[in-house]
Amino acid sequence: MLKRQSLIVANWKMNGSLDSIRRLVGAIVPGIKDVPGEVLICPPFVYIAELVKLLEKTTIRLGAQNVSQMESGAFTGEIAPPMLKDLACEYVIVGHSERRMLYNESATQIARKFVAVQASGIIPILCVGELLEDRNARGTEAVIAKQLDTVIEVAGIKAFRQAVIAYEPVWAIGTGKTALPEQAQEVHEFIRLRLARHDHKTADSVRIIYGGSIKADNAEQLFELADVDGGLIGGASLVAKEFLAICHSVR
Ligand code: 13P
Repeated sequence: MLKRQSLIVANWKMNGSLDSIRRLVGAIVPGIKDVPGEVLICPPFVYIAELVKLLEKTTIRLGAQNVSQMESGAFTGEIAPPMLKDLACEYVIVGHSERRMLYNESATQIARKFVAVQASGIIPILCVGELLEDRNARGTEAVIAKQLDTVIEVAGIKAFRQAVIAYEPVWAIGTGKTALPEQAQEVHEFIRLRLARHDHKTADSVRIIYGGSIKADNAEQLFELADVDGGLIGGASLVAKEFLAICHSVR
């Protein structure tokens, strides 16, 4: 039995329209009732206000996909953590590999976002993950350790009591190549041990979710792993039937 509450996150990325998200949420809501644990949707910023309305009277929580590390000011095009708090966002994804790679977000910037998000009373979902080259060179653990250690140094280990970690191997994102259960479990356990070097209690309580080509037909074998506490779902979260099946794979 899971001692940590499970968390299933829909990361819609830059997809959808007002019309399509209304239909998608309309199809998800009736099927979500008996899902154990938490279910969270992270839509594009401009649809957050609409989601506030659509998710009213449901148990589904609301989050964002990115955020600025600054609180306010002359930062054209950016969104600050207090703005997300205003719209009742409970979670924010920070350090997604698409942000790290396509927008050159540095480890330090991501750590600052993590801190800023928590300062606004929002829970950060910190993404970590290695490239295929790293894995082939047996560098997975070194890469993950560095990504984690930067945040531990800046935010402190206790900050992880109010955070979620998402392990997303970059080679598994949007490729249809999910990590094998033993690969996922190995890295999730490594992450927990890395945190336990500083604080056992925090390491034991933090939720570590897996992301990368989760589908209805592979979710259950991932979610039943000892150190996997849920999933971060991209493509499959855009299809109501698929996403619901994934949510119902949590025991
Ligand atoms: P896919 O589920 O499309 O592989 O995306 C995973 C992801 O990046 C979620 O944040």
